[in-house]
Amino acid sequence: MNKKVLVMHGDGIGPEVTRQGLKVLNAVAPQAGLVLDLEDTLIGGAAYDETGSFLPSESLNKAKQADAILFGAVGGPKWAKLDGSETPEKGLLNLRKELDLFANLRPATVFSELVEASTLKQEVVEGTDLMVIRELTGGIYFGEPRGSIEVQGRKGSRNTMVYMEDEVERIIRVGFDMAGKRRNKLTSVDKSNVLDVSKMWRSIAERLASEYPGVELDHLYVDAAAMELIRDPRQFDTIVTGNLFGDILSDEASMLTGSIGMLPSASIGSEFALYEPIHGSAPDIAGQDKANPLASILSVGMMFRYTFGMPQIDEAIHSTVNSLLSKYRTPDIMVPGKKPVGCEEMGDMMLQELEQTQAIPAA
Ligand code: NAD
Ligand code: IPM
Ligand code: MN
Repeated sequence: MNKKVLVMHGDGIGPEVTRQGLKVLNAVAPQAGLVLDLEDTLIGGAAYDETGSFLPSESLNKAKQADAILFGAVGGPKWAKLDGSETPEKGLLNLRKELDLFANLRPATVFSELVEASTLKQEVVEGTDLMVIRELTGGIYFGEPRGSIEVQGRKGSRNTMVYMEDEVERIIRVGFDMAGKRRNKLTSVDKSNVLDVSKMWRSIAERLASEYPGVELDHLYVDAAAMELIRDPRQFDTIVTGNLFGDILSDEASMLTGSIGMLPSASIGSEFALYEPIHGSAPDIAGQDKANPLASILSVGMMFRYTFGMPQIDEAIHSTVNSLLSKYRTPDIMVPGKKPVGCEEMGDMMLQELEQTQAIPAA
């Protein structure tokens, strides 16, 4: 099977972690019977510096030709603007919108080797295995009207939370389908005690529930969800929520696992798919070989599951990461008794572990 994978390294630690994800992709593909056609392209600040655009049309065109995209991260102080002009982040948002990547799957799994790495108590986080499904192409991120306003001589600025019924229905269906493949529990997170958009969201979830009798649906307000996630994370199986709430809750969920450097994601639409860590470009550690590359490596696992239809490879990558963590740690998850490694060495040790454990049988 031939597959075209486009690599968008981006900024800060983006290139550092993506290189490790790529190592794993390149090592595993032949064993999985895949012939890869790999290409790199520019995105974010790196693209701006070279072309004057944060999402050059050439990059977008290449993205539309690819079977899957492996994405690093974008942004950094060099390009941060507070005056409303374009930014690297806008390049990523435009890419998501142009490719209609409306479903963002963000699994938070507490690896057994990492239970002690969370800032929460071991007995609270142990065994946590949840999936945040974040709507990715609508809501307050994209709603109009937006921008500067002037009302009766007073200056201000606004964004608008807008969801159309069909956008809500399609993401909630992703939630029900995912819960049906997991532990049959779907929690819809909204703010329906206040927001009209959320009232509609909740009523659509209620209406769809009858089509999925095997899945138990419950609802939480987003503020209570943020609290419950830390109080008792194991109560959650699949969470479905809007763009902004999902952004915030997934960063929160990452800390159950020990580090934001552990959380991968898949952004999926009807035609395209992009795989990226949930973290950003981490300017504070960029260029120092300190970043944890496991989110990128696990994102490659998700690519095998969702684009290549090989969940067994994703599972093998998972179990190999767990055994890797019994020996090696990047600084964000370091504890006494383990060998400290940098980003690059963690990637190399992942390859060694894959080879030693023979987790992936040759095709
Ligand atoms: P961040 O995720 O980049 O970093 C937050 C903290 O987590 C930092 O202390 C960082 O060092 C640490 N961290 C992040 N990833 C890590 C990893 N793999 N290993 C170890 N530590 C890690 O978030 P931020 O600092 O709020 O944002 C920095 C820039 O990244 C901003 O420009 C932001 O807009 C951008 N950003 C981009 C994406 C993306 O491209 N998808 C996502 C989030 C933030
Ligand atoms: C993420 C990031 C992005 C978001 C930014 C960089 C646009 O925080 O992927 O979680 O808010 O979606
Ligand atoms: Mn985010």
